[in-house]
Amino acid sequence: MLSLNPLGEEKGSHDMSVKTTAPHILARKGGDLIKMITAYDYPTACIADRAEADIILVGDSVANVVLGYDDTLAVSIDDMVRHTAAVARAEPSALIVGDMPWLSYHRSIDETVVNAGRFIREGNAGAVKLEGGRRRLPMVRAVLNAEIPVMGHLGLTPQSVHAMGGYWVQGKDASAAYDLISDARMLADEGVFAIVLEGVPDVLAELVTQEVSVPTIGIGAGIHCDGQVLVFHDVVGLGGGEYLPKFVRAYASLAEDAVTAITKWFADVQSGEFPGEEETYRMPPESAAILRELSVASFSIDNGLGDDLLADEAMES
Ligand code: KIV
Repeated sequence: MLSLNPLGEEKGSHDMSVKTTAPHILARKGGDLIKMITAYDYPTACIADRAEADIILVGDSVANVVLGYDDTLAVSIDDMVRHTAAVARAEPSALIVGDMPWLSYHRSIDETVVNAGRFIREGNAGAVKLEGGRRRLPMVRAVLNAEIPVMGHLGLTPQSVHAMGGYWVQGKDASAAYDLISDARMLADEGVFAIVLEGVPDVLAELVTQEVSVPTIGIGAGIHCDGQVLVFHDVVGLGGGEYLPKFVRAYASLAEDAVTAITKWFADVQSGEFPGEEETYRMPPESAAILRELSVASFSIDNGLGDDLLADEAMES
């Protein structure tokens, strides 16, 4: 049976033959630019899907933009799988990528594979993303061996905030840039289907994009990538007023619009304008009249008046 989602569209009406997969994204190398955005729950996934995202990333940025933490280290595998499953319930055509949180792929190969599998089995994702280069290759290999597509993530990798000493643009000198290009090559050779490049100079992203056979998806990495990704709340202006990085461009001010809307509603509540006729349920006038008489009779069960009135109503209906 079809039901409607909050945007008034039919749920379950998606044609699974158009569901985007990791191989579809891989085949886009050098072709149409790939549109990727984060989403963290059912309504944001519905919106991203209506906007025709190719990839919805259930990013660990959920920690910052939804849960109010200062960094992404705070979220657990349980948090991420729960958010991924909520996104999947929107049944988007986009490929859903689950972002493996810090410490879910660092301790052992077995644990990594089990955690990656949870995104697929419980979260209904089509792929997972891991941050890091050569140090993570054994984990990347193991997840790929379990038939789970992997997206890489290089450059300013937020889970390394303490190791990097802050959120700094990465690969700014030739030696660090060369290392990053080598990491990208190793990930591509291992079999990842795409690589996110975050917070790197545009020339470095351009060279990586030329060097690797898989699509690069940039965030703060200039214009030469095979696609772009931004955080949902940043694009639509739904933040709590915190600092936004230079690479963000906001296309709406939903937080401001929401404050305006709620302030207007509160004013209508206080002036008695809300609720109006359209927001009010009514009972048939006869029943309302009987109810009023009943309450005048103080719901007098003892004197039988209440029973008589209710019997009258039953006869009339
Ligand atoms: O968690 C996230 O939102 C990300 C993107 C910024 C790529 O990893």
